[in-house]
Amino acid sequence: MSKIKHVAIIMDGNGRWAKKRFRPRIWGHVRGSSVVSDIVKSADDIGLAALTMYAFSTENWSRPLEEVSSLFKLLKKFLIKEKARILDNNIKFKVIGETQSLPYETISLINEMEELTKNATGLKLTFAFNYGGRSEIVRAVNSFQLSHPDKLLTESDLNGLMYRPETGDVDLMIRTGGEQRISNFLIWQMAYAELYFTPTKWPDFTPREFKKIIEHVSCRERRFGNVSHQGDLGDSIEKAENHKTAFVERAKH
Ligand code: IPE
Ligand code: IPE
Ligand code: MG
Repeated sequence: MSKIKHVAIIMDGNGRWAKKRFRPRIWGHVRGSSVVSDIVKSADDIGLAALTMYAFSTENWSRPLEEVSSLFKLLKKFLIKEKARILDNNIKFKVIGETQSLPYETISLINEMEELTKNATGLKLTFAFNYGGRSEIVRAVNSFQLSHPDKLLTESDLNGLMYRPETGDVDLMIRTGGEQRISNFLIWQMAYAELYFTPTKWPDFTPREFKKIIEHVSCRERRFGNVSHQGDLGDSIEKAENHKTAFVERAKH
């Protein structure tokens, strides 16, 4: 299981789950939010290094205002309810996205939790809230241009300018709810991620299914462009660079 270090989850299907039960969509979100704690605990038990969960996208603003406001309330509730457990379990917490447009009270809860957990050495737990993958990249490029107006941007520069660089590339992305798309989530970090789509709606997702998916994906061979599994993406890129240089050199003679 060791090669899966960073898991990203698109928690989808709350609305359809509620609709099937003749309940309002918001009820699906409420039920879905209680699943979050179970999965965080499970990620910790498995020994993952990082877990990034998509809770609200920049596109989700287009939903009815009542639904948007319930999602904001649920984030606040989660922060209050889970604080003790996050601290007790040495979890390093961060919210990524445009947090400045969140209500003031939520921003201060986020700041407090990030500050309290900044020296934690356990699971790196990230909530993507008011997050968009494209805007994360644009933000990074703009900040680079401002600080290095005469330099060309490299992949490694861009890696370092993501919202949470220390979590690195995503090894496995799980999407619940049956849709097979990325929906603007971690598009830079997922370049070589394994993808797993489950029809289970988020409120029905369990630690048992989570562990099964990780076990299943751990058996897949990740080749990173190579002919067989050898090392990680970094090793493969290095090897590709060496081969390319040798090839170009040989062509000169
Ligand atoms: C995911 O569930 C939660 C958020 C996007 C905030 P949805 O609300 O998208 O549920 P479906 O996809 O409509 O069933
Ligand atoms: C993705 O789900 C966003 C989150 C889970 C927060 P959506 O339900 O918003 O995505 P689409 O609309 O199916 O692409
Ligand atoms: Mg959805």
